Amino acid sequence: MDKKSIIIVGGGIIGMSIGWELIRLGHDVTIVERDRVGRGASWIAGGMLSANAEVGFEEMEFYRISAESLRRWPEYAKMLERESSRSVCYRDEGSITVADDRDSAEALRRRFEFQAEHGLDVRWLSAAEALDLEPFLAPGLSAAVHSPLDHQVDNRCVLDALRDLILEGGGRLVELSAVVAIVPDDVAPSVEIDGQDSIGGHVVVVAAGAWSRQFSGIEPEHLPAVRPVKGQILDLKVKEPFNLKHVIRGPQAYVIPKDETRVVVGATEEEMGFDVQVTAGGVYKLLEGAWEIVPGIYDLPLLHAYAGLRPGSRDNEPIVGWSDAPGVYYASGHYRNGVLLTPITAQEAALEIAEKNDSDWLKGFRPQRLQMTTSTG
Ligand code: GLY
Repeated sequence: MDKKSIIIVGGGIIGMSIGWELIRLGHDVTIVERDRVGRGASWIAGGMLSANAEVGFEEMEFYRISAESLRRWPEYAKMLERESSRSVCYRDEGSITVADDRDSAEALRRRFEFQAEHGLDVRWLSAAEALDLEPFLAPGLSAAVHSPLDHQVDNRCVLDALRDLILEGGGRLVELSAVVAIVPDDVAPSVEIDGQDSIGGHVVVVAAGAWSRQFSGIEPEHLPAVRPVKGQILDLKVKEPFNLKHVIRGPQAYVIPKDETRVVVGATEEEMGFDVQVTAGGVYKLLEGAWEIVPGIYDLPLLHAYAGLRPGSRDNEPIVGWSDAPGVYYASGHYRNGVLLTPITAQEAALEIAEKNDSDWLKGFRPQRLQMTTSTG
């Protein structure tokens, strides 16, 4: 095996998980991050592994990799825990999607029928069955669907585990360093960092989330077609007798019990460019939407409110593969599913980067599918 030197731009869950796989394969990894690693969109996330609950009509190719990544998560979580000696709080109670009026019940029924037709493991629950399963649900909900396989992890613990593993494995983290340009090259691509020396290697991986287009050096039409999609979330402090077990997904908000101390309420979805302000309106909508489905949140102390930027691609599906810029590989555009898609992206992309594999799982998600073509008439 030729030992390669790989520069990863972006230290979120995708960049770090690819980095860790490459280190395990025996390569040198440098991660360049504009902020602190693991403190961007991947930190401000819920950690839901919602392959089944979130499946959209017409998205079966995307469902295929989501379900495969979900299948890989338990083993991946065990590996992270074993190697890092940290818990990643994998929880397997599953999620319950609820409707609170006639319109949302109708939409839930249509989605359930589509899911059942495609063989997904989802179960329709009467209001009484839903309350039996999860007593902290609001009484009187119109409908509920249980997705027993849609588990969750604590994304923050995963990020801390990955950071430790990369450092212990000899990886280099260059934090608070913004990459301003990428210099593509078949043999020795490099990155230029604001106010610092360039760093070169054998491959540059762009995993910079919503910032994955913010570089010079690559033709705009060859940059990954991503945009920022703002999400505000809240951390509430768990206080007895509140003891929610399942992830609850409602029409306006979701509620995720993390550990015995924290419950997450999310998330807004706003097209506001790179704005990351927490707003009164965002917090109000989240609390109202969460209270309608899990009224017990009313008495919980509000710990923090955050806003992060999901990387949404033009078709809202990931962008993973070799770009048209020589020596540059993209892993971006994971939008609402970065945590869910971490194992499959990291494992398949690392083999493509280091060993020139061609992953069957990733072939529907190449950057070229979204490139603008100009008609010459
Ligand atoms: N995965 C949930 C969200 O992006 O809000």
